[in-house]
Amino acid sequence: MKEKNTKILSIDSLHPQIDKIKEAAKIIKSGGTVAFPTETVYGLGANALDEKAIEKIYSAKGRPEDNPLIVHISSISQLEDLVENIPQHAYILMERFWPGPLTLIFNRTNKVPDKITGGLSTVAIRMPAHNIALELIKHSQLPIAAPSANTSGKPSPTNFSHVIHDLSGKIDMIIDGGSAGVGLESTVLDISGDIPIILRPGGITIEDLFSVLPRVEYDRAIEMSITDITPKSPGQKYKHYSPDARMILVSGNIEEIVRKTMELCKEYISQGMKVGIMATKQTCDRYENSNVLVVGDRELPETIATNLFSALRRFDEEKVDIIIAEAIEEKGIGKAIMNRMKKAAGGKIV
Ligand code: TXA
Ligand code: MG
Repeated sequence: MKEKNTKILSIDSLHPQIDKIKEAAKIIKSGGTVAFPTETVYGLGANALDEKAIEKIYSAKGRPEDNPLIVHISSISQLEDLVENIPQHAYILMERFWPGPLTLIFNRTNKVPDKITGGLSTVAIRMPAHNIALELIKHSQLPIAAPSANTSGKPSPTNFSHVIHDLSGKIDMIIDGGSAGVGLESTVLDISGDIPIILRPGGITIEDLFSVLPRVEYDRAIEMSITDITPKSPGQKYKHYSPDARMILVSGNIEEIVRKTMELCKEYISQGMKVGIMATKQTCDRYENSNVLVVGDRELPETIATNLFSALRRFDEEKVDIIIAEAIEEKGIGKAIMNRMKKAAGGKIV
């Protein structure tokens, strides 16, 4: 692919400069690609109604064409053209969680290009809670299709430098709008059938959803560590979030985790490998003389969510051969964190 001249634009996330937003919107309107921050991770956006523009997203990321994209909107009125048979509980969900890290799967209209949905009869929609993202959609006067702005298979980008690393020279513009907040992608909730089903755990937890829905289930593919059934969300079947290094996830109670991590660390070092330990605030002091990165605080799992992808990328920069990562409790946002960690580890848990 020919190198593009990627324009960099720095925008204030609290008070986006409207002249700069308009410049980015112009690119979207003319069929180009713009990476922009959201409250979850950075997205790579293009006009959701333009097949040619959407193709550019797939080729810049190297993404399989059967993995559908999320369409981002800034007002509920934009739904009208895109979806049909909206169930009653959808309005309650939108009212409670939009803008925010919840993607809803609806039955789609035929205005939505097949390129977006990978040929499915449904479409994924979300309204991001980020000033730059919302202003960009508003000023483009278009729904914006946006997957995470990383090379396909790599950890999602949680700050500007990650996007530069993966996509500079491959897209038209990258907006620098600081760090993404949540750090993990949105929760994907399928409401196209009778029972709402979580296809991807994320920023909105199942506990949050139960506050407004009587019934919610996880897709079976999420409950299994190594899956042999076909997941409903095409994205879940691909290798994902994977650092260059091999990763092993160590589970158990804290004492068991620390003991096993030290044991594995010694073993790999004796084999001549460069080892990185992904530890937590509660355990980091226990690993003397090792290459330790503190990903966050077990008591505040949202800190782990914020730092996880950036930690994986850091280990790659350091060219470690193997990452030994501590498992955390699968409660609240911990469910989404462990989902990403298991995928990064390719299901390798001890
Ligand atoms: O937080 C996020 O959701 C970020 C930001 C940029 O908004 N976006 C994001 O997009 O994570 P992406 O493309 O990396 O992940 C979209 C996920 C994939 O797992 C995809 O398979 C699933 O949503 N998906 C999209 N459309 C779907 C559909 N119609 N049915 C089932 N799953 C769908
Ligand atoms: Mg992604």
